[in-house]
Amino acid sequence: LVDIGTADVAGHRVLIRADLNVPLRDGKVADTTRIDRFAPTVDALIDRGAKVVVMTHLGRPAGEPNPIYSTRPLVPALAAATGRKVAFVPDCVGTVAELASSHHEQDTIQLLENLRFHKGEEQNSRSFALRLSINGDIYVNDAFSCAHRAHASTHAIAQLMPAYAGPSLLAEVAALQAALESPTRPVAALVGGAKVSSKIAILDQLVTLMDHLIIGGGMANTFLAAQGLKVGRSLYEPDCVDIAKTIMAKAAASNCKILLPDDVVVATSLDSSAARAEVSVDAIPPDRMALDVGANTISRINDLLASCRTLLWNGPLGAFEVEPFAAGTFAVARRAAALTQAGTMVTIAGGGDTAAALSAAGVADRITYLSTAGGAFLEWLEGRSLPGIEVLRNRVPNPEIA
Ligand code: 3PG
Repeated sequence: LVDIGTADVAGHRVLIRADLNVPLRDGKVADTTRIDRFAPTVDALIDRGAKVVVMTHLGRPAGEPNPIYSTRPLVPALAAATGRKVAFVPDCVGTVAELASSHHEQDTIQLLENLRFHKGEEQNSRSFALRLSINGDIYVNDAFSCAHRAHASTHAIAQLMPAYAGPSLLAEVAALQAALESPTRPVAALVGGAKVSSKIAILDQLVTLMDHLIIGGGMANTFLAAQGLKVGRSLYEPDCVDIAKTIMAKAAASNCKILLPDDVVVATSLDSSAARAEVSVDAIPPDRMALDVGANTISRINDLLASCRTLLWNGPLGAFEVEPFAAGTFAVARRAAALTQAGTMVTIAGGGDTAAALSAAGVADRITYLSTAGGAFLEWLEGRSLPGIEVLRNRVPNPEIA
């Protein structure tokens, strides 16, 4: 990977693919972690004389302009994180964008409108990438968390312009490589969260690599259903039950032990005032939903971690954003941090929700490495090659546009 730090950027327009896909609440950025991590990249480039143009997606607007997903609300957060002026450009291609990039003041960051307002982005369209490339002279990918997507702004464009890797992408790759290439065993993966269908296929591969697989959150409910248990109104995906069965069989054959909850905290709704009860997983009432793991499951996970040397964590164990249901995630997070600090376990965590949960538990800076990437982190764990990284490795020496 060629580091943008080695390029002569003074006087050039540097078009950076960032991942500023951050949560918004009431029209404001609710978590600035990704923006804060990205800010030093922009700072360093402007200090070196570059004119910086930032492009990102936000949410999944499905190729149509949609004000809910506009990147405009990111402007104040990016300005605060960098201490610089930020100019919003209301489209990422076309006359508006071309006009903006030809009148670029060096100390102002230009932030383009959401890339996914155009179908060509997710189609990895070469012609859309060509239109994007007009916004800069040099391309930088600093979005490790989007490297698993072969999209126009992460893939096609890198074949059309002088393409470099940005510092946060390089830092993520270095940290994950160091920790994961030959992890100290026993190694456990903890996978939770609500995105069952997009993650479950990855477990199929993970069971062949891990000594232990700890499953929590909505993912666990799907596995409990696969064991024939009734999960009441809990979040689970009926369509994934068969895959869950296959994964359990594969784990048994690969000697990977799966730890599923044996007790859960149930309530009638995801509400801090709803009546709660801790029940065995074979006694979830039909009108209740499982929203956290129970005390016995917490002890079993924490005992298991004491015997592990590496933990790879993606996804919370329960609905941690609503306080009474955070207990399981927080207890395990604190245990993982204590073992990391004691030097007996390496803990690598990834994903927006996981980062938020570890921050809320007060341990985000007490584990070995916290990646901002969710899907890309899991695909990396699985050993898959990431198109956004591969295209930078095989960069074209003399692209058509320079
Ligand atoms: C993420 O949040 O993991 C990245 O921004 C990728 O988003 P996506 O899953 O919508 O492609």
